[in-house]
Amino acid sequence: ASAYDFHGSHQAGITTPVQDHLHFASFDMMAGADRDDLITLLQDWSYAAARITQGLDVSATGAVGGSPQAPPDDTGEALGLAASGLTITFGFGPALFEKDGVDRFGIAARRPAELERLPAFLGDDLDPGASDGDLCIQACADDPQVAVHAVRNLTRIAFGRARLRWSQLGFGRTSRTTQVQQTPRNLFGFKDGTANILADDTEALDEHVWVGAQDEPAWMAGGSYLVARKIAMLIETWDRVQLAEQETIVGRTKGTGAPLSGGDEFTEPDFSGDAMPETSHVRLAHPDFNGGNRILRRGYNYVDGNNTLGRLDAGLFFLSFQRSPSQFVQLQRALSTDVMNEYLRHVGSGLWAVPPGVTAGSYIGEGLF
Ligand code: HEM
Repeated sequence: ASAYDFHGSHQAGITTPVQDHLHFASFDMMAGADRDDLITLLQDWSYAAARITQGLDVSATGAVGGSPQAPPDDTGEALGLAASGLTITFGFGPALFEKDGVDRFGIAARRPAELERLPAFLGDDLDPGASDGDLCIQACADDPQVAVHAVRNLTRIAFGRARLRWSQLGFGRTSRTTQVQQTPRNLFGFKDGTANILADDTEALDEHVWVGAQDEPAWMAGGSYLVARKIAMLIETWDRVQLAEQETIVGRTKGTGAPLSGGDEFTEPDFSGDAMPETSHVRLAHPDFNGGNRILRRGYNYVDGNNTLGRLDAGLFFLSFQRSPSQFVQLQRALSTDVMNEYLRHVGSGLWAVPPGVTAGSYIGEGLF
């Protein structure tokens, strides 16, 4: 099992080979928390994240090395488990910079101009209990217990300064970020992640994913913007749709994932004839029809039990990283005529600024203060 360094020029968990499991968490700062509380929280989180990503306990005394008369520093459920490819990726939401006109932490002047709540999109049906948040943590690992241990302990460390607002478990990655990873499938049964931006495509990453050195604000250079959308999928309805119709909606075959214009999975779609339906998801989202716009997708399937009608409460926890939030906004608007929308319901949403990576001894977001 692999261990990824928490330190680096970019945060881990973006181009890192997509792991199998996700625990995503959104936090709000507590009423009355001040600038020092925020800074010490980010320092404590960085310290713990650097350790747990190496398969260590959150502190040196950890789960069983401390006083028998005190609650242990670490909750212990990851004892004996490997690092399991754990990555922890932190993000700062718009409200962290300014909430109801109040600059709680003295950072309003440093808010990236583009870091605003995403606009409302056609068909949005958002639950505030699955949207937004001052801070976010994306924990990905190949063992679900390791991802949950991370969020549980980071939540515990935040005690008195920030509290969990909502969180989401995900399984079965719906993308790939390296050439060697097989393309997985989403809950519609289609390969997902075929045309993603991959880790070795530094040119595309610099153009579409990383905030550049010339971009504003300077403290975000090497960072990115994270969009989360909880998209419920009406899978029972989808499952009654004819195979040919499903493929028309996506624009690719269900078996191999090849574009309907022919070839294999990695053949570029040919939009010159009429093989690629006008309203197919792939055509609407393709860079050729979006001014060259691309994003790095890193979402997960979810199943949150079922409803009283016996239908699975399931869908895609869509996660994407982009150099500017406007890239997501443009694509999401382009998808307003997507026939797939008949089978989707966007129920959660959030946007966070993902600061650049940190060097050992420093802490996440240090450049902001
Ligand atoms: C491609 C499914 C939502 C953007 C694809 C593909 C599938 C798929 C099967 C083709 C394989 C691939 O290249 O990955 C879904 C499902 C969604 C969803 C089931 C919702 C539950 C979204 C959203 C966006 C998006 C919200 C962005 C706003 C893209 C892009 C591509 C793509 C950019 C690649 C297009 C290309 O360059 O060929 N999606 N998608 N998708 N999707 Fe989605």
